Amino acid sequence: MTAMDGSSQSQGRTAEGNGAEQAIAVQVRGLVKSFGSGETAVTVLKGIDLNVYFGELLLLVGESGGGKTTLLSAIAGILDIDAGDLDVLGSSLTNMSPGTRTRFRGRTMGFIYQQFNLLPALTAAENVAVPLLIQGTRKKEALSRGRLMLERVGLGDRTEFLPRNLSGGQQQRVAIARALVNEPQLLVCDEPTAALDGPNGQKIMELIRDVGRAPDRCVIVVTHDSRIFQFGDRMAELTDGRIVGIHPIQREATA
Ligand SMILES: Nc1ncnc2c1ncn2[C@@H]1O[C@H](COP(=O)(O)OP(=O)(O)OP(=O)(O)O)[C@@H](O)[C@H]1O
Ligand SMILES: [Mg+2]
Repeated sequence: MTAMDGSSQSQGRTAEGNGAEQAIAVQVRGLVKSFGSGETAVTVLKGIDLNVYFGELLLLVGESGGGKTTLLSAIAGILDIDAGDLDVLGSSLTNMSPGTRTRFRGRTMGFIYQQFNLLPALTAAENVAVPLLIQGTRKKEALSRGRLMLERVGLGDRTEFLPRNLSGGQQQRVAIARALVNEPQLLVCDEPTAALDGPNGQKIMELIRDVGRAPDRCVIVVTHDSRIFQFGDRMAELTDGRIVGIHPIQREATA
């Protein structure tokens, strides 16, 4: 029952330091997650407490195998947890049925997977249109919005390509377009720039920030890429299954 009040001092906030109270978009309390059973069981998350505020872009860093992807999957409701509470955009994921959770995720979240998870038989534009089609958007409109989003990630000339005919970085950009197309309230990104060169990584982070971060939205980005730290408002470090520190990111003065 520690830190149940979501105390701001232990969270090292806020990004802009303007003193205004920001509403909590994601509240994680006492999250525990193990894989396997018996002697081979591994506890990956050992009691995570974390707040993410509306209007911010939170970076999540930490050693490989430390549990970052596991935490993102739990927050997105893709993974069942063993203990703790997860409150996302004002709803308790912990108490939702799997079906309700899936619909809730489709309506409110975008997820950029570490493995791109594109559907191999669909073109780039069709892949990007999938979240809209699931929401009931008509095919013609979904595809046209898909193509527009692909233009924004610099792939306007690749909309009808299948994933296997795209480079790794291009596939990553299709996955990013798919996560952004329905303008999610919570955007969850697992190493979104890992397959991209410097300029494309910067461009994509600008897009993620512009689309994802608004007063009524927030973004969580797992990354090892120090070149994109400047896009974050705060950085949380996950080590050995625990959040060991959260601090605001000092922004360089921009012209
Ligand atoms: N489905 C699973 N079954 C068993 N173990 C798993 C499963 N998923 C993850 N793990 C284990 O949980 C640990 C954390 O994995 P996770 O993918 O969350 O790490 P990560 O911090 O994202 O690492 P990386 O930076 O390399 O992506 C790893 O030791 C991994 O082997
Ligand atoms: Mg990972």
